[in-house]
Amino acid sequence: MFGPRRVRKTAATLVATAAAAATALLASPTASAAPQPIVGGTTTTTTAYPFMMQITDASQNQFCGGTLVSPTKVVTAAHCMVGETTSSVRVVGGRTYLNGTNGTVSRVSRIWINPDYTDATNGDDVAVLTLSTSMPYTTAKYVTSSQTSVYAAGTSARILGWGTTSENGSSSNQLRTATVPIVSDSSCRTSYGSDFVQSDMVCAGYSSGGVDTCQGDSGGPLLIGGVLAGITSWGEGCAEAGYPGVYTRLTTFSNLVTAQVNS
Ligand code: ARG
Repeated sequence: MFGPRRVRKTAATLVATAAAAATALLASPTASAAPQPIVGGTTTTTTAYPFMMQITDASQNQFCGGTLVSPTKVVTAAHCMVGETTSSVRVVGGRTYLNGTNGTVSRVSRIWINPDYTDATNGDDVAVLTLSTSMPYTTAKYVTSSQTSVYAAGTSARILGWGTTSENGSSSNQLRTATVPIVSDSSCRTSYGSDFVQSDMVCAGYSSGGVDTCQGDSGGPLLIGGVLAGITSWGEGCAEAGYPGVYTRLTTFSNLVTAQVNS
């Protein structure tokens, strides 16, 4: 979804960033290689990640990602579902390519948006969709509320999506994936100030940038040890040095999600 992108950035810092980027390119020509997935990563398939769902409009145009956690329940971001109705969205499983027609398309019978959600930068960015048709794909496990130690700084996390492969680029026709290290809460606070809500968010990315989720990846999974531990939520631009991606800290919402999965 093309929601919160630019946070706190003034025109002056944008110019400074552009100048710094130009300098970096001059200094190291090899750093200018074509942007990759998500941003920086490799292509993959829904066979490798069968729980990876496209969230689409009624015409099956993808706008967010989601994670299948039971045959009829999909975890995504609240900001993906704002303004949507059960008739405006579809969930598509088993479809590696955006322009594919294969896989399983389901209607949505219920949309639960965390009732505390207001804006991604205020936290609470989680939603659960109930599907009308069961998905015949392996589901993902998700963290329990007590597994808070999974977010130890430096832990490798996997991100997935069909989002743009550069900050102002276009979406990837094929599903992409990358790994990024979890960033400490103190470091993320330094990046984002009060927009970083520690109880509700976790950051991931390299301090030098280069690998990140981007627009269209929202709602998709951040996996730690193969377990769903975060939801792609927001960031300052994409893959910028000093601005990691921000993900919903799923341990905080695990019990809420379970209540929806069981309802
Ligand atoms: N808000 C974006 C979306 O709706 C996700 C942005 C993630 N940004 C980032 N720098 N990691 O698709």
